[in-house]
Amino acid sequence: MRFDILTIFPEALRELLNIGILGQARAAGVIDVQLHDLREYTDDPHRLVDDRPYGGGAGMLMKVEPFVRGIEAIRAEVDGDVRILLLSPQGRALKQSDAASWATLDGLILLCGRYEGVDERITAFIDDEISIGDYVLAGGETAAAVVVEATARMTPGVVGKYDSIQSDSFYDKPRLGAPQYTRPPEFRGLKVPDVLLSGDHAKIDAFREAEAWKKTMKNRPELLGLNLEEMSDNG
Ligand code: ADE
Repeated sequence: MRFDILTIFPEALRELLNIGILGQARAAGVIDVQLHDLREYTDDPHRLVDDRPYGGGAGMLMKVEPFVRGIEAIRAEVDGDVRILLLSPQGRALKQSDAASWATLDGLILLCGRYEGVDERITAFIDDEISIGDYVLAGGETAAAVVVEATARMTPGVVGKYDSIQSDSFYDKPRLGAPQYTRPPEFRGLKVPDVLLSGDHAKIDAFREAEAWKKTMKNRPELLGLNLEEMSDNG
């Protein structure tokens, strides 16, 4: 699986994409991550990637041509099933199931916007516009790193034990992962639940399942189709 990221700040992403399991997977050749400087695809002496919006308004917009030239250059290098995503706060919300389906592709091309966004004509050249949450970042770079990390984790051979993605939050059920504990068995009066020390795996599984649902109910009731505000408004 190959990831290509088009950005005006390739350096900012370099280190982040080299650490932990991503770094290991890249070193092992399981995934390939290529960073591309968007300014390489400009054709003016000032290497301009932004301009003023038609119709007026505050701030600058990213121009469409450098992105499209970048996409075409990358497409010429990557064979097979490739998807092109624009990271933007106007996109649809990223889900675990997106990461799982992108992990089956040959390539993902990620476009990082900055400033007030990208000329809307970019939508003719992309497959999807993705947001990582209902807040506005200074640019799409951190969002692209999120997409690479979430997708790479779902790519076979990236996470050592396949088991450890199956116990993830959101893996196959709309719920959070179970709370976990490690040594010591007691810290400042806080004990690890006895069942986890019991060695009884059926009981441990049942305990974890119940705790996972409890945590989901507390922190993400909407995943269970519940609206706690509405329920408390109604008494
Ligand atoms: N760029 C700026 N904000 C963003 C967000 N929330 N998601 C994806 N890209 C973004």
